[in-house]
Amino acid sequence: MVVVAMVMVLSRDVAGQKENSSEALLKFKSSLANADPGLEDWVSSTSPCSGNTGNWKGVLCFNGYVWGLQLEDMKLTGQIDVDSLVPLRFLRTLSFMNNNFQGTMPDWRKLGALKSLYLSNNQFSGHIPEDAFRGMTSLKKVYLANNKFTGPIPASLESPKLIELRLDNNQFTGPIPAISSDNLKVFNVSNNYLEGPIPAPLLKMDPTSFAGTYT
Ligand SMILES: *[C@@H]1O[C@H](CO)[C@@H](O)[C@H](O)[C@H]1NC(C)=O
Ligand SMILES: *[C@@H]1O[C@H](CO)[C@@H](O)[C@H](O)[C@H]1NC(C)=O
Repeated sequence: MVVVAMVMVLSRDVAGQKENSSEALLKFKSSLANADPGLEDWVSSTSPCSGNTGNWKGVLCFNGYVWGLQLEDMKLTGQIDVDSLVPLRFLRTLSFMNNNFQGTMPDWRKLGALKSLYLSNNQFSGHIPEDAFRGMTSLKKVYLANNKFTGPIPASLESPKLIELRLDNNQFTGPIPAISSDNLKVFNVSNNYLEGPIPAPLLKMDPTSFAGTYT
């Protein structure tokens, strides 16, 4: 009896150290509206990951850990509960493209190690705080196109690692920040309400990147 009890305590400790991705993702799902039928295989009776295979729709796995969520074209709406994703220590990429998310920009800095953030083709709106991406120094790809964002382009997007930045078809105003272009391959601010000169490092970009921007 004593031995059995000790083994149970030990195995519970080990389980406590490994993140419970199932618990985190189910909490995240509960914040969404319209999650079913798209996410109906997100259930506690199965595990989100087996090795590098995702068992739950849109969950990208590596070594049993969740490294990405790709929840596209699912008519999702409701709140994006960023806090519920914080326990997923290996999360690096998030895509919620082509859904119906509304409201202001969630606070992604709680997921400071993100490399890619794809939010294009939703109904996000409002000003993005100046420091919204401050400290997110791993960001390489940021897609915010085809939303309803207003106000200035946040200067905290000026990460030296940035490779792709799509901001087209929003309602951004003010100047284009002098985003360093050493690694930048995709850049698009067309169809906004920007003003001022195109910063010198961005002049080499395709002219269609700026089309419809200056009114
Ligand atoms: C992880 O969370 C799920 C859902 O809340 C629960 O059913 C399961 O027992 C938990 N697993 C561990 C190892 O704690
Ligand atoms: C920029 O976006 C606009 C509108 O979405 C598109 O027409 C144009 O081809 C894009 N240009 C580049 C260089 O991506």
